Amino acid sequence: MIFVTGGAGFIGSNFVLDWLTQSDEKVVNLDKLTYAGNLKNLLSVAKDPRHIFIQGDIADTQLIDQILTQYQPRAIINLAAESHVDRSIHGPEDFIQTNILGTFRLLESVRAYWNNLSIATKQNFRFLHVSTDEVYGSLASNEPAFTESHRYQPNSPYSASKASSDHLVRAFYHTYGLPVLTTNCSNNYGPFQFPEKLIPLVIVNALAQKPLPIYGDGLQIRDWLFVLDHCSAIRRILEAGTPGETYNIGGWNEKPNIEIVKTICTILEEIYPKVVFHNLITYVKDRPGHDRRYAINAIKIEKELSWKPAETFETGIRKTIHWYLNNQEWIADIQTGTYREWIKKNYNESR
Ligand code: NAD
Ligand code: DAU
Repeated sequence: MIFVTGGAGFIGSNFVLDWLTQSDEKVVNLDKLTYAGNLKNLLSVAKDPRHIFIQGDIADTQLIDQILTQYQPRAIINLAAESHVDRSIHGPEDFIQTNILGTFRLLESVRAYWNNLSIATKQNFRFLHVSTDEVYGSLASNEPAFTESHRYQPNSPYSASKASSDHLVRAFYHTYGLPVLTTNCSNNYGPFQFPEKLIPLVIVNALAQKPLPIYGDGLQIRDWLFVLDHCSAIRRILEAGTPGETYNIGGWNEKPNIEIVKTICTILEEIYPKVVFHNLITYVKDRPGHDRRYAINAIKIEKELSWKPAETFETGIRKTIHWYLNNQEWIADIQTGTYREWIKKNYNESR
């Protein structure tokens, strides 16, 4: 049994669905179901006995202790977080509560659980903490990509809160010997991403003929990875990573934002030849403290763990656009808030 936190969010739901196609090992999935958590992402496994969903907070020590005692997981994959930089600028408190305090409380519960395991089970146990390349700060155009030893220099409340959680995870390894693994991944895109992030926002707005907002000059660079490649990297690190180590995850796909948006417009124009999506591109005020460039050096995971992404950006972005085109009800449910009603009706009332 593995224990996933944040498994109703974008990466978490992709991870759970992917896990269950690859393995018969059960998953207990804890998610608070904030605005970003959507049980509709997990519809296809709603009745699968290998998937146990629990609504709750990683900061709820009593609940975490109960889950650990009842399910006796051999590993924890911590994906629960507040994840959107713009929201962290407008209201940082939730980021501190979940990403810092929540991770700390989860670590404390896990430490107590792990201490009581038998020697063999203890040795094989893993706490895998999913983090971000944003903890390394911003790169100038001529600087080499982030390696695992790059200094931490977070610039937004989001990245500062993730950096804090990474430090706590590291401290629990060095101080208590908890067998942790930390991953720092670049920007993900793919199915089930909440349409507040650049790629789904642009697809969804384009389909509705709304402006496609480009912050500042649009020349900020991000390093893009298809979400299922992130999931395969997490699985590989869980299987073969060395406790105490950090692994950067990325697909060598650095692109300026404006290029991403233009690529989406071009693909949509192939699909709908009568519509000019490029005309919707609109430059808007920049994000405060906007990091200029992220880039991941993924040599460590490639060499030590023989991991490679399966998708290029060109294949991944087409899959992503087609997923959104084929799942317009999913988009509409988010836009109208119906997904929250659905969760209340189908989940809360049944318990
Ligand atoms: P997301 O916002 O889509 O999902 C986060 C999930 O966590 C949601 O389902 C939410 O309900 C849940 N959650 C929030 N607070 C919680 C709490 N206190 N207790 C339990 N559950 C809680 O985020 P995502 O994009 O899927 O990111 C998942 C993880 O991966 C985060 O830790 C993020 O920092 C990291 N990450 C994301 C990216 C990316 O590009 N999206 C890249 C690298 C790393
Ligand atoms: O690098 C990994 C990080 O990637 C993750 O840790 C975060 O959880 C995830 O949200 C993402 O952060 P970014 O800030 O890079 O992603 P976002 O999709 O918000 O923005 C991508 C770039 O696009 C960024 O330079 C800001 C810009 N942007 C974003 C939005 C929403 C725009 O120009 N217009 C927009 O409307």
